[in-house]
Amino acid sequence: MKIKVFDSASEASKFTAKKISDLIKNSPESRLGLATGRTMDAVYNHLSNQHKIAPFDCSKVRAFALDEYVGLEPRDENSYRYYLDFHIFQSLGFDSNNTFLPDVHMADLNQAALEYENLIIKTGGIDLQILGIGMNGHIGLNEPGSKVDSRTRVVDLSESTLDSNRPLFKDAEIPKKAMTMGVGTILEAKEIVLLATGKTKAEIIKNLVNANVGADLPASFLKTHSNALLVLDKDSASLIS
Ligand code: GLP
Repeated sequence: MKIKVFDSASEASKFTAKKISDLIKNSPESRLGLATGRTMDAVYNHLSNQHKIAPFDCSKVRAFALDEYVGLEPRDENSYRYYLDFHIFQSLGFDSNNTFLPDVHMADLNQAALEYENLIIKTGGIDLQILGIGMNGHIGLNEPGSKVDSRTRVVDLSESTLDSNRPLFKDAEIPKKAMTMGVGTILEAKEIVLLATGKTKAEIIKNLVNANVGADLPASFLKTHSNALLVLDKDSASLIS
């Protein structure tokens, strides 16, 4: 896994946004895997700004979200559907028929997970997967203990993730379960970019860089991928020697 460190979070986010826009410009029918979360806010802001200044066609891009909370309606402001619609899909003019999230509303969630996997395969697989990282090393919502060959499935969220994401829910209760692409699903992407910014991520990034590959720190599985890049700012990289 290569590492790139930028002077500021803004530059690291801008670089990540450019990865996305370059892919779309070069290959307008590409398939994107997208993360949510606070780290991604800046990436999608940069992307929207780039698009405002010099528009590029996103109508044929197929976009796949990493995960979704079980029990949240798409119109719920805390759902990842809402997040992605609001932060990227609408401002860049994605076709809503081409934007996908795990279907957490089907009666049979195992079936929904299988259909998500099949849909990714049917469209040709993900060209570029964007990732953040949880405080415990999760990618998507693959919590510690997730296996290298795990696929899209419903997971129980860890206390660490619930504590970290609860403030985003304001007065609402945070769901305890989510459906996430598996580690195996993520590793099948042709290219992977993991972005981590800020001092709060310094400890987990240090652990990630020093970790052996294994389920204790799911992001460590990215070290087995031939085209994975860790994008950091000075703060998140501050504990790497
Ligand atoms: C969330 C998301 C992940 C994200 C991570 C970090 O739970 N499901 O995809 O990468 O946790 O979030 P943040 O950027 O808010 O720290």
